[in-house]
Amino acid sequence: MSHFSYRNGVLHAEQVSLATLAEQFGTPLYVYSKAALVENFSAYANACQQAGRADGGKGGALVCYSVKSNSNLAVLNLLGRLGSGFDIVSGGELLRVVAAGGDARKVIFSGVGKGRDEMKLALEHDILCFNVESIPEVARLNEVAGALGKRARISLRVNPNVDAKTHPYISTGLKENKFGVAYEDALNCYRAAAALPHIEVVGIDCHIGSQLLDDSPLLEALDKIIDMVDALEAEGIPIHHLDIGGGIGIRYDDEQPVAIGDYLARVFARVDAWRASKYQGRPIQVMFEPGRSVVGNAGLLLTEVQYLKHGEGKNFAVVDAAMNDLMRPAMYEAWHGVKTVKENAGQPRIYDVVGPVCESGDWLARSRELAIGEGDLLALMSAGAYGMTMASNYNTRGRAAEVLVDGERAHLIRARENPADLFALEKIVS
Ligand code: LLP
Repeated sequence: MSHFSYRNGVLHAEQVSLATLAEQFGTPLYVYSKAALVENFSAYANACQQAGRADGGKGGALVCYSVKSNSNLAVLNLLGRLGSGFDIVSGGELLRVVAAGGDARKVIFSGVGKGRDEMKLALEHDILCFNVESIPEVARLNEVAGALGKRARISLRVNPNVDAKTHPYISTGLKENKFGVAYEDALNCYRAAAALPHIEVVGIDCHIGSQLLDDSPLLEALDKIIDMVDALEAEGIPIHHLDIGGGIGIRYDDEQPVAIGDYLARVFARVDAWRASKYQGRPIQVMFEPGRSVVGNAGLLLTEVQYLKHGEGKNFAVVDAAMNDLMRPAMYEAWHGVKTVKENAGQPRIYDVVGPVCESGDWLARSRELAIGEGDLLALMSAGAYGMTMASNYNTRGRAAEVLVDGERAHLIRARENPADLFALEKIVS
């Protein structure tokens, strides 16, 4: 169910009119629906429950929300209260999780380039696991943990070399990607890691890409991970959890992504059958790292039409949001739905929706039929994931404000950035 719908001809987020939000908080404005966030996260939680893993049964299951997709403290806090763990990729994201009241013991730390300070910070917070991506990284982690008198729990990100069949920029599980260790090298890496005194091998993980509509590449990756666990067990390296990453896609236009519950049910069925046949049902924890499928369709970017330019070949709707607010179209030619906030019956024309930034690449949507005038409000749909987190200050534009709608109430969860904040750290030299 969409929590963004027209009521009396005006687009609403839950029960709040977007026109009211624009008046109250200004534009550009990110607007999130709490009910949508809860619903999306619950699809994961319910599937874990149905598989009998909610309370640690069969080794349990942990959903580690991928913080990079939307890291607002209110979003993290809400998900944390729903029981979510967190997949982070920087010390900064860890500090966000902690500031949001999230449980550091449910944090997994991914990423190819973790720094010493970040490792130290994560060890001090006693995070659940480091998803390490190379031998030099394990060696460094061993050193940092040793200096603190600790042992770091690790999982190795194994690259299963399956084609996620998604945009090349967001496909990560192929041999040519920088991520993880090659499948063929994984055993050797595990042997090396297991021999280090300040490292405790606990898991295995992979993440093959993002915006996957079909789960067959994910299940193919799972099979390879399962084979690898067998090989490790045979070597006397026991694995307590397997983490299949994130990647389930959402509907931007007319895509038909696999239902979260169906995908998880298939994962659990395979894992359970495998554990029953080879390990007399010995438990293993299963983890997921979803981002987009939790927040993507729970948010939109609200913007106001500044000018209409009717050219010979093209009509442009110049709006007050730009590529710095929503980078995805410029970066991946991503498609976001555009809705007028007032369902109006004027004469439509075909427009490119563009921002005020001085780049030809600054477009948000192309060739859309819209009946609009100056001052009208537009909603760029499905912008909850990788929207605000990828925003920049290019052209010294303060980043948008963010609002979380809960029923009839709207909470400002991030104030609009003041331009003076943007140069506050800078200095003039004589
Ligand atoms: N785990 C790891 C290790 C990841 O690298 C990612 C995303 C996720 C989990 C979450 O994946 P999701 O469930 O959101 O697909 N900026 C791009 C997407 C980049 C994805 C990066 N990794 C976009 O706007 O489409």
